[in-house]
Amino acid sequence: MLNPFRIAKRLRAIGLTGIGQRNAEFVLMYNQRRNYPRVDDKLITKKLALAAGLPVPQLYAVVREEHEIEELHEKLRGRESFVVKPAHGSGGDGILVITGRRGDRYRRSNGALLAREEFDHHISNMLSGLFSLGGQPDHALVEYCVQFDPIFDNVSYKGVPDIRIISFLGYPVMSMIRLPTRMSDGKANLHQGAIGVGIDIPTGITRRGVWGREIIREHPDTESTIVGLEIPHWDELLMIAARCYELVELGYVGVDIVLDKDLGPLILELNARPGLAIQMANGNGLLHRLRRVQELEQQGTLSRDPAERVAFSKANFPTL
Ligand SMILES: Nc1ncnc2c1ncn2[C@@H]1O[C@H](COP(=O)(O)OP(=O)(O)O)[C@@H](O)[C@H]1O
Ligand SMILES: [Mg+2]
Repeated sequence: MLNPFRIAKRLRAIGLTGIGQRNAEFVLMYNQRRNYPRVDDKLITKKLALAAGLPVPQLYAVVREEHEIEELHEKLRGRESFVVKPAHGSGGDGILVITGRRGDRYRRSNGALLAREEFDHHISNMLSGLFSLGGQPDHALVEYCVQFDPIFDNVSYKGVPDIRIISFLGYPVMSMIRLPTRMSDGKANLHQGAIGVGIDIPTGITRRGVWGREIIREHPDTESTIVGLEIPHWDELLMIAARCYELVELGYVGVDIVLDKDLGPLILELNARPGLAIQMANGNGLLHRLRRVQELEQQGTLSRDPAERVAFSKANFPTL
């Protein structure tokens, strides 16, 4: 039998951090509660990003009240594809990725057709808070449906992959790309069944992946390799992640970005409590990297310049 003490020791050696430590030493210490709404409400995040000149998917409509659902069909008349999501959603819950129409019905990214009544009912549930943090009444956001860069066609099953970068005090410390699978229904959330693939910070090249608890090198649906892929616009992605520190003033934040084939990188959302599976996807722990940035903090040498922070991260945080 595996000795739990030896396992714990090995995990510490590679610097894996657990939920308790992440919360106590990083989330609570570096994220002020009053700034949480900036990331917990996707509408606020979008407005802040726009004001700061950071790229986000275009907002088509906001639905706040039940009676506005009817008008929504009108507002969306000319649009073939769009995404509807709860402003306070998480984990991909409740999100509708609509990629086409057939008569009165909407086609979801998994191919299924949604009748108008089902669509209305779904949004009504969204407004009542069914998919939202804390179950509070919520509003629904309708936005541009990202057309992912075709470079990832072979490794994402009918959906849009997203790239997560953890930014600590504005330094990008670790990253992964999340690839949708047949199971995850067009969404890139790991617990919906998407794959997480670690990305080397200095080069932007993918290393290896996890799917559930399994370490993988191929996409389970397409069997194409997920190792050695070069993420386009990598430096730009790192810069966006670095700039999100000033944007929301949260020290420890997960920045989720998608790559549109025409528009380039767009910020999808920010997260004040990003999950820890990114460590599995990288086969590397976060702790050593976080400590390295804390050393700068203790020395009083943290940089205020996002470009300088990116340069530091590229020099110091390879995926081993
Ligand atoms: N505008 C969009 N275009 C295409 N796909 C999207 C869009 N918004 C969300 N998605 C898909 O849904 C997933 C979850 O969306 P996100 O905004 O991150 O909400 P959540 O907080 O629920 O994770 C994304 O990872 C992506 O795969
Ligand atoms: Mg997300």
